[in-house]
Amino acid sequence: MAPTIGVFDSGFGGLTVLRELRNVLPGANYLYFGDTAHLPYGAKSVRTVAKYAIASAHFLEQHGIEMLVVACNTATALALDDIRAAVRVPVVGVIEPGAQRAAEISQTKKAVVIATDATVSSHAYQRALHQFGMEATEKACPLFVPLVEEGWVEHPVTEQVSHIYIDQVFQDAADGKPNGADVLVLGCTHYPLLRPLLRRVVPEHVEIVDSAESTAAKVVEILGKESGRGSTGNLRCYATDSIEKFQRLGGKFLGQPIENIELVDIEK
Ligand code: DGL
Repeated sequence: MAPTIGVFDSGFGGLTVLRELRNVLPGANYLYFGDTAHLPYGAKSVRTVAKYAIASAHFLEQHGIEMLVVACNTATALALDDIRAAVRVPVVGVIEPGAQRAAEISQTKKAVVIATDATVSSHAYQRALHQFGMEATEKACPLFVPLVEEGWVEHPVTEQVSHIYIDQVFQDAADGKPNGADVLVLGCTHYPLLRPLLRRVVPEHVEIVDSAESTAAKVVEILGKESGRGSTGNLRCYATDSIEKFQRLGGKFLGQPIENIELVDIEK
């Protein structure tokens, strides 16, 4: 029997993770929960993010998931342990798989991580990368989420903003020389959409690691490739705010139109 996998995010961004999951496990059934009423998580506190994330995880558990993927980097960074403690199903976050992949491909053992303010302040990526023997420089890029949601993924303004955020990060603060990092980790659900633009901005020798891809690979490792074989499984989406907006924006993140969206209120 195909497994039912729950995917949770603060909004539409986690659909980039769902997209990767469906690439590798097309036969699984998916329940996607986007907490759009409380978006963005990236500027919120641990307490608030944990409260919303736990309520969303409970909702998905009550709807029969067998595994929960926390697609939101901010929720993973701030509340993964709390979410794990709150549900009975296995929970996979996006940070450890991304950090592991970075360590596998890095020669210099130095990475740059870009993410939301909250993720960077938590230093969750730095800790995860340390466990794999890596040093990390973290950089918050808070303007990227609204720019992506505006659809400006190939816009001169976004390119300029990227240069402002990124050019200096690959230099040593002390002497301005290259800092030796050879990997850039995309530590936010929205950033995979900026990958072609970032490829032009980031130094050529730097490889880009997408946490969405690494997380999907991790889920395959746990469930086994066989579990997701067969014809395309069902996808059902839940959102805590406007269905119309979810449909309009979500399609861009998933790479295909989305039907089957239900409005839910987890605060009841
Ligand atoms: N999903 C969030 C993340 O990956 C980005 C959007 C938000 O701030 O809620 O960190």
